[in-house]
Amino acid sequence: MISKKMKRLVENSSIIRAMFEEGTRLSEIYGEENVFDFSIGNPNVKPPEDVKKAIIDILSEEEPNLIHGYMNNSGYEDVREQIANYITKKDGVKLTANNIVMTCGAAGGLNIILKSLLNPEDEVITFSPFFGEYANYVDNFYGKLVVVKSQDGTFQPDINALEEGINERTKAIIINSPNNPTGVIYSETTIKNIAKVLEKKQKEYGTSIFLISDEPYREIVYDDIEVPVILKVYKNSFIGYSYSKSLSLPGERIGYIAVNGEMDNFEDVIASLNVANRILGFVNAPSLFQRVVGRTLGAEVDVNIYKKNRDLLYNHLISIGFECIKPEGAFYLFPKTLIEDDKKFAQIAKKYNILLVPGTAFGSPGYCRLSYCIGYDKIEKSLEAFTKLAKDCRNL
Ligand SMILES: Cc1ncc(COP(=O)(O)O)c(C=O)c1O
Repeated sequence: MISKKMKRLVENSSIIRAMFEEGTRLSEIYGEENVFDFSIGNPNVKPPEDVKKAIIDILSEEEPNLIHGYMNNSGYEDVREQIANYITKKDGVKLTANNIVMTCGAAGGLNIILKSLLNPEDEVITFSPFFGEYANYVDNFYGKLVVVKSQDGTFQPDINALEEGINERTKAIIINSPNNPTGVIYSETTIKNIAKVLEKKQKEYGTSIFLISDEPYREIVYDDIEVPVILKVYKNSFIGYSYSKSLSLPGERIGYIAVNGEMDNFEDVIASLNVANRILGFVNAPSLFQRVVGRTLGAEVDVNIYKKNRDLLYNHLISIGFECIKPEGAFYLFPKTLIEDDKKFAQIAKKYNILLVPGTAFGSPGYCRLSYCIGYDKIEKSLEAFTKLAKDCRNL
């Protein structure tokens, strides 16, 4: 018999499973080309050619037992050093290999950070709408996720609500910019205001409050908008980075944590991240892909492909009456649903072979998420279906 906790989690993941099964069912009836699946954030843009070349070069040049072997739980020293130097040069924060821990994607990174920080009942704050997995990651270590609202109309964090949400049990804040599901990038002012509140509250309670910046979409940015560098603004900060989206490698499970060198108890934190990596069963990040990302620093997918998709879908949705913020990054749109009940809206959308995720899954009912990391042609073909869906909702 599975545990009560897992039974609950399996039941709760039925929305995602149902969506997947629905996609398969609709494809069998109408043909895959007539089903518009906007539900999954799986990158459709090809990884850069440099990645393929690096894989081939590494496999032909290096000794197999070394490439595929175990190493220190924090990852290869030389790769960590390459990443540290790259960040130092690009972002102007002085890092060394000691500040970097290689991880199994951002998900692996967040879990080892939370494992390292949380005592049972400790609180972790995030802003709605939020990536639903945060609730599970915090629950993994018996913490409590506290959801604080963002500002209406901009989805920038509400700083007053943050201040009110912090108490002596608050251990960490998770932010995500560029954001899944809104596509919003937090401004420099927002980040500085968050840091000010955290500093004030640390003093007030005599505690350390950690800022965890979940940044798998850092490179998926449009119109040259700058993503502020958290490590420059707040000393108790971590960046959880991933190559899942920037290099289109989500199945390879590769990313890193960058730890601020000024962090309280820095040495203990690093030691703890290493042990957490081991005992959660990750052991170390995939060895071949550590080498690959070390050799391809600065390589990026063609973000213009996502930008064209964004413009096509966004302009059409606005023209037929949807209300939506124009995303500055990531590859999601988060419009208001045309009827109040977002789950019912998702059901109606299925009549037109459109699959989308209700905002409730991100803690924001009344909205829905559309992942536009699919083919441009598919989006073009879907526009008529969205027009029909809008008409249908107006006549309800
Ligand atoms: C906001 C956010 N955080 C973390 C992750 C996990 O990414 P990874 O594949 O790097 O584990 C995702 C994946 O979609 C995400 O959207």
